[in-house]
Amino acid sequence: MSSHLEVADPGRLSLEELRQLVDAMVGGYLPTLDQMEGLLSLDREGAELLFQGADRVKRSIFGDEVHIRGIIEFSSHCSGRCLYCGLRADNRGLERYRMGEEEIVSCAREAIDAGYMSLVLQSGEDGGYTREVLGRIIGRIKSYKDVGITLSIGERTYEDYRYLRDAGADRFLMKHETCDEVLYDRLHPHSSFRRRMECLRQLKELGYQVGSGFMVGLPGQSLRSIVLDVLLLRKLDVDMAGIGPFISHPGTPLGDSPNGDPFLALKTVALARLVCRRPHLPATTALGVLDRQGRDMAFFSGANVVMQKLEPHRYRRMYEIYPKPHGEDLPIAEERRRLEALIEGLGLKVSKGRGDAVRP
Ligand code: 5AD
Repeated sequence: MSSHLEVADPGRLSLEELRQLVDAMVGGYLPTLDQMEGLLSLDREGAELLFQGADRVKRSIFGDEVHIRGIIEFSSHCSGRCLYCGLRADNRGLERYRMGEEEIVSCAREAIDAGYMSLVLQSGEDGGYTREVLGRIIGRIKSYKDVGITLSIGERTYEDYRYLRDAGADRFLMKHETCDEVLYDRLHPHSSFRRRMECLRQLKELGYQVGSGFMVGLPGQSLRSIVLDVLLLRKLDVDMAGIGPFISHPGTPLGDSPNGDPFLALKTVALARLVCRRPHLPATTALGVLDRQGRDMAFFSGANVVMQKLEPHRYRRMYEIYPKPHGEDLPIAEERRRLEALIEGLGLKVSKGRGDAVRP
């Protein structure tokens, strides 16, 4: 490798040198920790080169296709106590809901009729749903149409994970949130980083397509730690990864902490694309909340997926992980049409597939 690749801080490189570094990364070069930290410190002009590099890698894998995943947030009850999350058990200021089996299945059918080929079933950590109930819901959706089904229901027993995999769940999302173990354990008083890693290992072993991810801008999180988060995604060899800025929620112990920087989050998505290559990376809702254009820009900075909420609007307002604006109260099919138009308006295509993992 030529000498420019050993320069510690790409933030201090000339644009030409930066261009060479990004080109090397597009070709598969794994930068040093210092170089990655430098890339995350780039200003707008430098970051443009990083984004273009990520876009090239994304296009080489996914072309110009964007996957739309529908997400049914079916329960806002949560026994977890994550310090950053509005759904935490201790937040008494939140009105909670649980969707019933029929309601979930009919929501899924409506989405399938509207063209969804990939559905995420997400909830707080809600012991109110047994594995038998969840398994039956998965089976009923699958027998309506063989769409990809992703679970995002948090930490459960190995037996639960196995039962649900056997019931037909294809994928599981479980973000590692931060790879800084001390910070993780402080933010999650009900669990631990070790437990989370163990869950991820079990999910892989069971043959799920696995997604992880983390937040950018958590109080106490360093830039170096974000670099290590990206490297952890690479080490876990994830199939999907959600990366978004931390957004402060007033009903949580972190209510007075500043929001994460959406520009830094965008650079992190681009770095993840260059370093991890194949995972599906969503343009996260959190990005769009802090920066209106941020979500759309993510499609040109490495992201290839977008998630659309599907549950009835009265529930969406209650599923308040972080404060966010609520749009018009439109039917599922109309919302999908508008999202498709937005994607096509950006010069991209809507994927017709299930958005399964791309394995080497
Ligand atoms: N800001 C941004 N993202 C958050 N999440 C939870 N709380 C917040 C917050 N305050 C994300 C976490 C979690 C997912 C359900 O939402 O990454 O995994």
